[in-house]
Amino acid sequence: MTFSRRDFLQGSGAALGAWALSGGPARAATHPPFKLDAGVFSQKVRADGPATEVWGFNGSVPGPVLRFAQGDKVDLHVVNHLPQVTTVHWHGLRVPNDMDGVPHVTQHPIEIGGSFDYRFALPDAGTYWYHPHQSSFEQVPRGLYGAFIVEEPRPVQVDREVVWVLADFKLGDDNKQVEDFGKVLDFGSDGRHGNVFTINGTAAGPDRKLELRPNERVRLRLINAASARLFRLEFVGHAPWVVSYDGQPVSPHPIPDGKLFLAPGQRTDLVIDGSAAPGATHAVVDRRGTGTQIASIAYAGKPVRARRLGRPAAMAPNRLVEPRLDKATRHYLMFDGGVKGMPAIAQVDGKPMKVEEIMAQHGITWTMNYTAQHEHAMMHEPLFHMKRGEHVVLRMVNNTNFEHPMHLHGHFFRVLAHNGKPNAMREWRDTVILGPRGSCDIAFVADNVGEWMFHCHILDHAAGGMMGTVVVDD
Ligand code: C2O
Ligand code: CU
Repeated sequence: MTFSRRDFLQGSGAALGAWALSGGPARAATHPPFKLDAGVFSQKVRADGPATEVWGFNGSVPGPVLRFAQGDKVDLHVVNHLPQVTTVHWHGLRVPNDMDGVPHVTQHPIEIGGSFDYRFALPDAGTYWYHPHQSSFEQVPRGLYGAFIVEEPRPVQVDREVVWVLADFKLGDDNKQVEDFGKVLDFGSDGRHGNVFTINGTAAGPDRKLELRPNERVRLRLINAASARLFRLEFVGHAPWVVSYDGQPVSPHPIPDGKLFLAPGQRTDLVIDGSAAPGATHAVVDRRGTGTQIASIAYAGKPVRARRLGRPAAMAPNRLVEPRLDKATRHYLMFDGGVKGMPAIAQVDGKPMKVEEIMAQHGITWTMNYTAQHEHAMMHEPLFHMKRGEHVVLRMVNNTNFEHPMHLHGHFFRVLAHNGKPNAMREWRDTVILGPRGSCDIAFVADNVGEWMFHCHILDHAAGGMMGTVVVDD
């Protein structure tokens, strides 16, 4: 198999001209409404056997690549043809609170057959994505997700751009999705993992080819849309440059340890230079567990230029206010639970309860600061309040044996330290991995008013209690 039609459309379609070495994206514009139709349909996921019934946007998994320019105003008309209520959250985009797509917190869920208009401007360039926030532990792994790309006025200069939305499906031998969403055991452990890795909605594997010409330069936008799976990607035979994390440019640098950690919710943009001769192929391998080859880099065609390009120039940062640590308010968050190490008593939706009862009655297996919230409709007390413009340092302490990619809505934060060890890069992110029995310090300026979700992006963990809100008061 070579590029599917979808790969082609997403990788090198209409926008190709804009990505040629000399080009740049269009100027900011106000766009007419764009319809996103959430529905049920079938799609060929595995190459062999029948197609799979999936849920998705506009008849494909992933949904359409939404591609706009920085500063644009967009109008996204979401129509719900699912058998459940839903919402759409624009992961990483700094939207006004009432456009954030969180059921019961920022809007009423979109009724079956109903619709909702999301209208907002795009202050930040970068790689983002969209997905429901309603029953996300089920709706996302069924296929409701898509890439949201905001072009920089001056992007990193490449010959071509490719988007890979990574995820997985849990399929039976009949290629049907296994209907086992919402198991307490998944909530309390590593989450529900699929058995079929996917790139842009179809099965990954050695047959999936990223075709490169010698000395060609490609920007690869990686999005982890899996509901629970962390990737650790190695590009054998290549030395990609990391140019942004979660949409925020960094000084271009090689992948730390040569293996790219990508947790659910996170994005990384790589610049890959074609470094082999025609006919050569190299593996792209997920080094988590035993190592699964998810794709091949295959060489064909004439060299694009005589020599491989050097280190790419850094892109201009988005306009984010720098947190000042000397005047920051300190907040703390403790994480407990999981199948090993749950506290004996915790508060659920405001009431103290015994843990066995909680697990049996609510499927709750995790707590944040000894409270658990798992349903948006039941959100009672925010984790903490901040004043608009407040500078904040947040220390997260993980008393569990599991990793938690923690995602804050409406803001980006600087990652200051992991396990007390200063992080020299101090990159901006919206989703950071909190290691098992580890800690993480982040800092940000609370400049977006409203009640914002703060939750684990292993969506089964969120559904198992690892979900709360923080409030920025006006
Ligand atoms: Cu990508 Cu609260 O989510
Ligand atoms: Cu988690």
